[in-house]
Amino acid sequence: MKKIEAVIRPEKLDDVKAALEKAGYPGLMLTRIEGHGQQKGIMQQFRGRGYKVELLAKFRVEVVCSDGECGRLIAAISEAARTGEVGDGKIFVSDISDVIRIRTGESGETAV
Ligand SMILES: Nc1ncnc2c1ncn2[C@@H]1O[C@H](COP(=O)(O)OP(=O)(O)O)[C@@H](O)[C@H]1O
Ligand SMILES: [Mg+2]
Repeated sequence: MKKIEAVIRPEKLDDVKAALEKAGYPGLMLTRIEGHGQQKGIMQQFRGRGYKVELLAKFRVEVVCSDGECGRLIAAISEAARTGEVGDGKIFVSDISDVIRIRTGESGETAV
């Protein structure tokens, strides 16, 4: 199993959710976060003066899925989240060793 952790523009959430819906996905969690990538934030102008905003609002969407579903879901998220401009975000993929559904005690892929 894999965890797909996508850091996306907040305004792209609806598109990403629609794409996941279309691709079929087992579940998701959403966290509102702040962060920056290589550009280390952006310069803003206020009353003629420039100042740096280091941490920008992003959404982190996490989906845990079977190995087989992973590539398809990454493709769906990437396509939906892309504008082509800097700040489009990133996707981190990690291995998940187990999942337990608390209600039934099921574990592994049947619990995803
Ligand atoms: N190396 C990293 N480690 C942790 N989080 C990151 C990393 N790179 C990007 N992020 C997260 O992804 C968000 C969007 O990154 P982005 O600006 O698109 O990346 P980059 O500038 O590196 O192309 C950041 O606000 C941050 O939350
Ligand atoms: Mg950036």
